[in-house]
Amino acid sequence: MSKRFAVILAAGKGTRMKSDLYKVLHPVCGKAMVQHVVDQLQGCNIEKTIAVTGHGAELVKERLGTEVEYVLQEEQLGTGHAVMQADALLAGEKGTTVVLCGDTPLITQNTIDALLEYHETQGAKVTVLTAKADDPTGYGRVIRDENDAVKRIVEHKDANTEERYVQEINTATYCFDNEALFEALTHVNNDNVQGEYYLPDVIEILQKQGEAIAAYQTADFNETMGVNDRVALSRAEKEMQQRINEQHMRNGVSFIDSDSTYIESDVKIGKDTVVYPGVVLQGETSIGNYCVIGPHTEMKNSTINDETTVKQSVVHNSQVGKRVSIGPFSHIRPQSDISDDVRIGNFVEVKKTKMGNKSKASHLSYLGDAEIGAEVNVGCGSITVNYDGKNKHLTKIEDGAFIGCNSNLIAPVNVGAGAYVAAGSTITEDVPGEALAIARERQTNKEKYASKINKK
Ligand code: UD1
Ligand code: CA
Repeated sequence: MSKRFAVILAAGKGTRMKSDLYKVLHPVCGKAMVQHVVDQLQGCNIEKTIAVTGHGAELVKERLGTEVEYVLQEEQLGTGHAVMQADALLAGEKGTTVVLCGDTPLITQNTIDALLEYHETQGAKVTVLTAKADDPTGYGRVIRDENDAVKRIVEHKDANTEERYVQEINTATYCFDNEALFEALTHVNNDNVQGEYYLPDVIEILQKQGEAIAAYQTADFNETMGVNDRVALSRAEKEMQQRINEQHMRNGVSFIDSDSTYIESDVKIGKDTVVYPGVVLQGETSIGNYCVIGPHTEMKNSTINDETTVKQSVVHNSQVGKRVSIGPFSHIRPQSDISDDVRIGNFVEVKKTKMGNKSKASHLSYLGDAEIGAEVNVGCGSITVNYDGKNKHLTKIEDGAFIGCNSNLIAPVNVGAGAYVAAGSTITEDVPGEALAIARERQTNKEKYASKINKK
């Protein structure tokens, strides 16, 4: 195997996206398109990967970090010109350079591997990855001679009527002999409809020099789809979503309706977990085994442990233990840490709160900035009054405490272990362990009050 290099084209603005966000940074299933391409290259034995940046260069660098090296294409004069910028880092290297575009997020490692292997066994100077498109509009067409050998690629805009009938398209993924690539690039001109230096022109140049040209046709057009506008972006989302869901199914996760379930690329789900319709799982979310998620649940950057059920609820940036029951209609906000066997019921909002084992808040509560021990019962309608208009304060409820319904715990305040708070109390002072705190007006009954009023 010769040395392998990769160049990813990511300098374009993506005018057709009609967006303030640079094209290759548009996410597909939560991950920037260009990041998908970089990730698929991992495991292809690439020595050096170079991203060509231009529009939004700083943001692209921020996203991809040190995984790749960068060259800047100051002016976007075409894909050939873009690759030329990598000359500084690749000139004189012997080996194979695979060129990919940052706007083909569905390309897979398998296909890149297959292309590289085909290229290396053919010994061609260039191998272009092609696909058959039902509707090739907009793509470069692969023009072959009478012996079926690839002669050149013609861009849609430059193609004549006959050429436009060709359904075999250039996927804009190629393998080149590195030295031949940079030599041929010096001969590319911009004499075409768009006035750009086209990378595919390298093929005709090498062909005319008598070099061997190869083409590798992939069976899956979808994988090679170039995302130039929001219609294609939405198709890519759909395709990626299916791919992700299928992967989870192969790993032992059940989906009641895969089409209505949206799971981002980096989410992990354990086996025998069941995902119901309308579920959205985002970011670095990790779900254990034997969980039930949904229907209609949104989770982001959260960890859910085994045998937990979350229904019709939102969980963000939080940790949830084993055998926990959340929902329906709960909201777990960032920095919450819910231990095992906890129950959080309907219309309960939890924010930056720890809940110890077997604690419960079953109905209509707000628990913010709280440290709640084990086996605490938070009665219906009880809330932590954590905000004084300027600052947030801590409420501590120790193990085994019982908070009666509709209590206000005015923070900072501490309810000791095993203490009781009577229903309807407004607690402003610490409650010692084992004590009963009653903080409410005593009831007075005014006898015959109604009849007195009625006389007037
Ligand atoms: C390109 C191919 C076309 C192919 C299609 C497949 C060319 C001339 N055409 O067309 O044959 O069928 O992809 O999707 O190559 N870029 C730069 N610098 C530039 C211009 C583009 O970095 O100066 C980057 C873009 O950010 C993008 C990629 O190159 O990621 C492809 O450019 P784009 O304008 O999308 O090319 P297409 O018109 O799709
Ligand atoms: Ca494109």
